[in-house]
Amino acid sequence: MNLAIIGTGNVGAALGGRWAASGHRVVFGTRDPGSEKARGLVNEAAGNARAATPAEAAAGAQVVVLATPWGATEATIGSLGDLGGKIVVDCTNPLSADLAGLVVAPDTSGGEEVARWATGARVVKAFNTTGSGNMSDPRYGAERLAMLLCGDDAAAKAAVAGLAEELGFEAIDAGPLSRSRQLEQLAVLWIALAYQQGMGLEFGFALLRRPAAGS
Ligand SMILES: NC(=O)c1ccc[n+]([C@@H]2O[C@H](COP(=O)([O-])OP(=O)(O)OC[C@H]3O[C@@H](n4cnc5c(N)ncnc54)[C@H](OP(=O)(O)O)[C@@H]3O)[C@@H](O)[C@H]2O)c1
Repeated sequence: MNLAIIGTGNVGAALGGRWAASGHRVVFGTRDPGSEKARGLVNEAAGNARAATPAEAAAGAQVVVLATPWGATEATIGSLGDLGGKIVVDCTNPLSADLAGLVVAPDTSGGEEVARWATGARVVKAFNTTGSGNMSDPRYGAERLAMLLCGDDAAAKAAVAGLAEELGFEAIDAGPLSRSRQLEQLAVLWIALAYQQGMGLEFGFALLRRPAAGS
């Protein structure tokens, strides 16, 4: 798959690096394609990645992954050109400055705002509910972390679920894009557990199931 990873920070580097390693063609869309960081990511990807401007990266991609700070996300989307029909994976969290809450109103979400800005794109909210370290390695012994995702386009969600499973997550369809409201609050909870509750970064959410009685 041709993947554009917009942003070369913690999330972009973790996701892009893993997908390049598994054979996808990754283009890191970055404000400075010649930066040491970008060159390092390209070198680590051993032939499966290159760096370009965000617009160049998005132009050639079937899947565009947004891994930008919330405050830069609307302008970044505006710089990407026509996203019509493309899968846009929104990893962002509209966090308040103290990381204790969200800056969007409760009757919307970052995911829904991204869909409004990315005209015609098939937006899937994913990779926002756990730390970037878990994106590098979602396996905990014999268990694996869940990756909750949501969106309004079934085929787009299935494609992103496949990308999550490739990383080692159990992909879980949480429903329509409006469920981003809950997924973004789950991110706030993960951050509170990590930092306020002192759990550190080596934990994540998983889902356990019991067979239904009588089955
Ligand atoms: N860190 C996590 O564990 C984690 C987990 C889940 C979700 N998230 C969410 O994912 C998004 C990215 O998080 P992150 O930790 O990867 O952030 P980060 O390390 O700060 O990286 C964000 C990247 O976005 C790009 N960018 C574009 N416009 C920017 C601007 N005006 N200012 C700063 N950077 C800009 C930069 O890449 P270039 O310099 O290459 O353009 C930058 O490296 C955020 O919305 C965050 O809430 C983070």
